[in-house]
Amino acid sequence: MGVSYIPVARAGELVAGEMKEIDLGGRQVLLAFAEGKYFAFARQCPHEDADLKNGVLDGAKVRCANHNYCFDLNSGACVLPQGGPPLTVLPTEARGEEICIRLEW
Ligand code: FES
Repeated sequence: MGVSYIPVARAGELVAGEMKEIDLGGRQVLLAFAEGKYFAFARQCPHEDADLKNGVLDGAKVRCANHNYCFDLNSGACVLPQGGPPLTVLPTEARGEEICIRLEW
């Protein structure tokens, strides 16, 4: 198994509550900074495909602006409504001055 680290931001680039759009080889991902951590997750809501860039960060959760489904960014679990479709989340890691998405393949 291989591991790749894709740099997506510089340390300190995002302020708390900010999101950045990332094109990850054609896949649209958002990087968010919340509660002192970076979170990377699919830009497309798993409910009905709304753009989560228009969503609202609430600590380490993102709430979709379309039907208010809420996702825990640590696990991707849908917490409102409970048991809803999960959000795809990707691990991030600070490497020196760069924030990277860690891809395993
Ligand atoms: S499309 Fe996101 S909650 Fe429905």
